[in-house]
Amino acid sequence: MTSSASAAIIVALDFSTGPQALTLADQLAGSGCAVKVGKELFTREGPAICAALQQRGLRVFLDLKFHDIPNTVAAACRAAAELGVWMVNVHASGGREMLVAARAALEAYATRPLLVAVTVLTSLDQAALAEVGIAVQPADQVARLAQLTLAAGLDGVVCSPQEIALVKALCGPRFLAVTPGVRPAGSASDDQQRVATPRSARAAGADYLVIGRPITRAADPLRTLVEITAEVAETPARSV
Ligand code: C5P
Repeated sequence: MTSSASAAIIVALDFSTGPQALTLADQLAGSGCAVKVGKELFTREGPAICAALQQRGLRVFLDLKFHDIPNTVAAACRAAAELGVWMVNVHASGGREMLVAARAALEAYATRPLLVAVTVLTSLDQAALAEVGIAVQPADQVARLAQLTLAAGLDGVVCSPQEIALVKALCGPRFLAVTPGVRPAGSASDDQQRVATPRSARAAGADYLVIGRPITRAADPLRTLVEITAEVAETPARSV
């Protein structure tokens, strides 16, 4: 296990309450992983949950997927930077001006959060995209939005394991690929449709693996994290 391997894992704290999240965080603190705070936990607990996690030495990915007019998203990104979070995200489909404003808003901070954009939600298939007026294959839309995100100066995208190679080929190895839908071999896929093992996601070039239930619902979450970390450590990312 290397420190870079544990640093590549982001544990999704998909809990309804702060105490549940902090109980797990106490087990994981010191492992070197990062944690992800999403809409439910943040809406219930507010910025205090980020502070409590950071006090435990954990890097926080604030996964609120901002999508609004440029001025509003820029202000929200400044607020995230002032919380001291390590990573924050927006929707790439908010458009070039919104992406540029989000990135520019972080320029003033000596230590700014990484800024990544969601391309196409993995819950949307071709039919669902067509229904909202986007008559292209999901992969083509991912390619379009990843290139827009790169042009706007962001650090990378959130994409499914299946799209990592495409994103890296189009945007270069230093453009970050953050990927959910990761399942250790033999574990339940839950509601994830397109899954990859930690090894295959890393081999495809993933810089960060977002993993929730395989760790949060494990009998021994720290042990599961250590096992996943060992698997990742054997498989160097192509881009880091
Ligand atoms: O439990 P599981 O490993 O499936 O959790 C994955 C995490 O990644 C969840 O917090 C989920 O909201 C998030 N996510 C996802 N698919 C996306 C974007 C985010 O599963 N396309």
